[in-house]
Amino acid sequence: MFGNTVKTIGILTSGGDCPGLNSAIRGVVRPALDKYSIKVMGIKNGYRGLITGNANQLTQDDISGILTRGGTFLGTSREKPFKNPEKDSKTGKTPVESIIHNYEKWKLDALVVLGGNGTQTTASLLAKEGLNVIGLPKTIDNDLVHTDITFGFHTAVDVATEAIDRIHTTAHSHNRIMVIEVMGHKAGWLGLYAGIAGGADIVLLPEIPYNINAIAKHLKKRQDMGKDFSIVVVAEGALREDEALLSKKELKKARQSMQNSIGYRIAHELENATELESRVTVLGYLQRGGTPSPYDRVLATQFGAAALEHILDRDFGKMIALQNNEIVTVPLEDVAGQIKKVPLNHKLLKYGKDVGTCFGIEE
Ligand code: F6P
Repeated sequence: MFGNTVKTIGILTSGGDCPGLNSAIRGVVRPALDKYSIKVMGIKNGYRGLITGNANQLTQDDISGILTRGGTFLGTSREKPFKNPEKDSKTGKTPVESIIHNYEKWKLDALVVLGGNGTQTTASLLAKEGLNVIGLPKTIDNDLVHTDITFGFHTAVDVATEAIDRIHTTAHSHNRIMVIEVMGHKAGWLGLYAGIAGGADIVLLPEIPYNINAIAKHLKKRQDMGKDFSIVVVAEGALREDEALLSKKELKKARQSMQNSIGYRIAHELENATELESRVTVLGYLQRGGTPSPYDRVLATQFGAAALEHILDRDFGKMIALQNNEIVTVPLEDVAGQIKKVPLNHKLLKYGKDVGTCFGIEE
């Protein structure tokens, strides 16, 4: 948009926060300032700041000491600019018009957006509006297509696994069924990895609708073997077999009428089916908070620095990704609007079954 030399870039973080966002920002901004003397505008609170024009020019001080810090110092929001076509009464502009206005006002040569599915979908639409956009894949859900992994996922698996390990001891002492609910949105990656890492007896994922009688049978079998406790890891998007037959709208309605989250319902269903005492722990935002793991710091740093390389090459409209251990780019439009679920032929499902994990159905 503004000639061939990159003078100014903008950066924002959007969607749910996760460990590694600050590491990735540093990966972009440090070389931009140090090596290339590029001006960087830090846009506040995701796309909201891009709409309202809320940004500061970043300095070395801003990015000093942030590699290991969780969350995002830029702030974030779940703002979706293309969802609302209404003109603002003060500016007389739609959110997208405001974005283009601010992009031009700040004389951005490129915009780096760090986020998950929704963020990359918006990024793809902005690229179609003529903005030079580069996406970086973050989310604890690991549900972005065309990348083997997103930063944030590894740390969330670590946190959830440590929690499962700690709950294991109480399960053992009290002979209980311990239900541990993990996040993951509509994908089961976090449940699968944390469940396998934590040695869960039952792992319930959105991709494999569960049958309570099959689970009860597995738990009884364990009891018959003299094992008086069980660990059940439930992904927040897990579905019962009958729910899997509902339309999206019907499912949403059914879920809204549930008083508690899925973990509680499953514990209740299991108590009815087995008469075994059950307890629930919902790990919630613990999984998104705190220090990124070394793996996520390295991944995010690489993604950030690679984004800057592509900006310098004026290679836009792409998301940085990891494929077979190589940093690559994929077109944003190939990522937009898609969710990467656990494929039913994923090897970890098979190997999990081999080591005795029940995935909620009769084998
Ligand atoms: O996408 C990350 C995630 O933590 C999901 O696992 C979860 O479903 C969702 O965000 C929670 O969103 P919010 O922060 O809006 O409550």
